[in-house]
Amino acid sequence: MTRSHLSLALVAATLWLCESYTLRNSVSWADASSDVVVRGESDAVSEEVAPALLVDNSRLWKHAYPSSVLRDGAGNNKRTVTSKTEDTTIVSSASRVFSYRMEDVKAAASPPSPPRHQQTARTARYVAHYSDWGILATISTQDKIKGLPFGNVFSVSDGPMDNSTGVIYFYLTPMENTVADLRSFPFASLTFSEAEGDFCRQQAYDPEDPRCARLTLTGKMVDVGLEEVESARWAMFSRHPEMRKWPVEHNWFFMKLELTQVWLQNWVGGVSLISLEDYFKATPY
Ligand SMILES: *[C@@H]1O[C@H](CO)[C@@H](O)[C@H](O)[C@H]1NC(C)=O
Repeated sequence: MTRSHLSLALVAATLWLCESYTLRNSVSWADASSDVVVRGESDAVSEEVAPALLVDNSRLWKHAYPSSVLRDGAGNNKRTVTSKTEDTTIVSSASRVFSYRMEDVKAAASPPSPPRHQQTARTARYVAHYSDWGILATISTQDKIKGLPFGNVFSVSDGPMDNSTGVIYFYLTPMENTVADLRSFPFASLTFSEAEGDFCRQQAYDPEDPRCARLTLTGKMVDVGLEEVESARWAMFSRHPEMRKWPVEHNWFFMKLELTQVWLQNWVGGVSLISLEDYFKATPY
């Protein structure tokens, strides 16, 4: 395993151990796919998959992140959720880490059909709204790749399902390499693909087919101010319910992307740069 795969595995396993919350894939993918129901004690995939070292999760976090990041970071201290490990002796099948809870699945409605391709601002808002995750690229501060681009997956939300704002919110921990990057240089690009949902698959569009929309939002990542924390929290937690249970000791906090540019490719022959005014005026619905 490469180092990054290892850390990912450690993170995933640790998250699982910190209570029985789960990591979801995009709800958009959830639709008819059979893996959404894979969960529970009867899960056939063997227990021996789970490495024994996953048992002590506090040690794991120190292992996964440099100790310097374990200090209190930018703080959202209002969170009251406490979800300590209830039974760290359970070492589970790794496959269950990526399974769904049934109650989350039922919340996963399929998005409506995309807007017509000529409606570029609306398409941009559509992709931004119905995406549950995207890839955020930052300028890295990691030793080996200092100054180079580094992409990382994040769950996002631009508002609850029925209230799109166009502003993309994040729920982050200072333990993330990406957050360290942003503290050093706050500008970033967030990329979404319509391939996250079912549309491209149903149309047999390859993710690189220009008709399978791609949206890259570039701007400055800023901490969400106190007056906006409640909206950010509702935006994130309504779309990612398991986040409520993420361990408080990781000092989760909210950020948002202040847009500079909206770049969209959703049709053959060229990309659109959508003015911020048009982007915020449009609705995804
Ligand atoms: C939608 O979200 C905005 C921004 O968070 C908020 O001001 C507004 O009250 C919300 N509207 C509804 C109907 O929830």
